[in-house]
Amino acid sequence: MSCNLLEGKRGIVFGALNELSIAWKVAEKAVEQGAQVVLTNTAMAMRMGETEKLAKKLNTIVIPADATSVEDLEILFDKSIEHLGGKIDFILHSIGMSPNVRKGRHYSNLDYNYLQKTLDVSAVSFHKVIQVCRKKDALNQWGSILALSYVAAQRTFYGYNDMADAKSLLESIARSFGYIYGREKNVRINTISQSPTLTTAGQGVKGFDHLMDFSERMSPLGNASADECADYCLTMFSDLTRKVTMQNLFHDGGFSNMGMSLQAMQQYNKSFIYDQEHPFD
Ligand SMILES: NC(=O)c1ccc[n+]([C@@H]2O[C@H](COP(=O)([O-])OP(=O)(O)OC[C@H]3O[C@@H](n4cnc5c(N)ncnc54)[C@H](O)[C@@H]3O)[C@@H](O)[C@H]2O)c1
Repeated sequence: MSCNLLEGKRGIVFGALNELSIAWKVAEKAVEQGAQVVLTNTAMAMRMGETEKLAKKLNTIVIPADATSVEDLEILFDKSIEHLGGKIDFILHSIGMSPNVRKGRHYSNLDYNYLQKTLDVSAVSFHKVIQVCRKKDALNQWGSILALSYVAAQRTFYGYNDMADAKSLLESIARSFGYIYGREKNVRINTISQSPTLTTAGQGVKGFDHLMDFSERMSPLGNASADECADYCLTMFSDLTRKVTMQNLFHDGGFSNMGMSLQAMQQYNKSFIYDQEHPFD
């Protein structure tokens, strides 16, 4: 249902790979709400994924860019402004990748070249996007910049590996740049910390099915879907949230504030064989 929440706004959406991608849903829903968007992804993702298909559906273009390349980003902003016919109002950074996760390297045995790549792709690219955008003065006053994060930035989750470090850095960049861009141009910068979601990137995490099941049961409202995440992103791009900045916003059905649920406690207890001599072991 459209209420033209983003009528007249122009956006750049990074990271729509296929129909499962969170960015895919954001782009679709933003257009439904009256926005014009440009899509962008790496040349490799454009070959392997379905970004072009989405562009056709939304009657727009895909501009290839590796978000770790300042040169690519400069071209992306120039071409986007040209295609959209004016400055940008919102940006979604929906990018994540860890070669250590992909190659099954344990956190206690990281390959440091891979770690560099994880941090560059999943976090520093956010800084690069914002820096290039600001230098080009490509964003309108009261614009909104958003990246997607995960609760492993605050708490330890088995299997999330060096992506946890990348997400901590990502959230910090939102705060540090949020201060600068907010004072100068009233631009807000936030991260949304999303529930585990069945996407190509999500499925790369070790034990992902179990993680999804655990967090579904622990969250009073259940896991948030990609569609629901997209809805939240749209509110953050709209004029209804103009004074929200430098925040990490949890969109996780309440998971991040849970300690122990009754159901989880019962399940946990079932896994022990009661030993009268050592009742607390
Ligand atoms: N799926 C989850 O469980 C989950 C939970 C919380 C947060 N997130 C975050 O959501 C975001 C989107 O991921 P998703 O789950 O939709 O998966 P996805 O695999 O659909 O999207 C990841 C995107 O990153 C792009 N990408 C990788 N390297 C890039 C580079 N160098 N330059 C530009 N783009 C690049 C990929 O091509 C892909 O489109 C990520 O930041 C991810 O960490 C995902």
